[in-house]
Amino acid sequence: MVRNLFITFEGPDGAGKTSVLKQVVEQLQQHNIEVMATREPGGIEIAEKIREIILNPAHTTMDNHTEALLYAAARSQHYFEKVKPALEAGKTVLCDRFIDSSLVYQGIARGLGVEEVLAINEFAIGKRLPDATILFDLEPSIGLARIAANRSDEINRLDAESLAFHEQVRAGYLQIAKQNQKRIHIINADQQIESVVNDVWKILYKLLG
Ligand code: TMP
Repeated sequence: MVRNLFITFEGPDGAGKTSVLKQVVEQLQQHNIEVMATREPGGIEIAEKIREIILNPAHTTMDNHTEALLYAAARSQHYFEKVKPALEAGKTVLCDRFIDSSLVYQGIARGLGVEEVLAINEFAIGKRLPDATILFDLEPSIGLARIAANRSDEINRLDAESLAFHEQVRAGYLQIAKQNQKRIHIINADQQIESVVNDVWKILYKLLG
């Protein structure tokens, strides 16, 4: 059995990856796989505080460069404080969003450039890419409708962006996936949660042996 894989879950807002991740973690634990689940931006105290600043809907004047740098800062702290030690301890790490979110949201949808955003992230965490990434693909209008209908918490600053922004996010993910076909596995997130969990499980089963 393969140990200490770093696996990330990515996708447009409202794609359901957070709920699926919870179920998948339970299944992995039932198979006695030592797993740590975490999320970005956040996962540890300092990064959760940065998250509050980035996603606060009142922060409408935040510059796109500031946004990209704050995501990278949160990622650096989270990676070195939590992810790297867990991998070194032999755990499999499942992370809800990681560097691809920055490449897509800031690099493509915000228009800062993929290379530029990659460069600040390499400064933040080095060249560590996930071993595998599961991309939850979904029509943005469906994702936004799900958020409006289901979220009990406040709609964050990025959720509140236009449909056109979220369409660029989806197209951006598909573009990055095409360039990283070995690493990124696309699944259809427009299905019942049980079917999505099942699709994710099939991929993890192969990865973890
Ligand atoms: P979520 O945790 O509810 O997915 O919210 C995080 C939001 O932040 C989501 O809209 C995606 C966005 N995001 C970026 O724009 N860049 C990043 O690097 C990350 C990790 C998230």
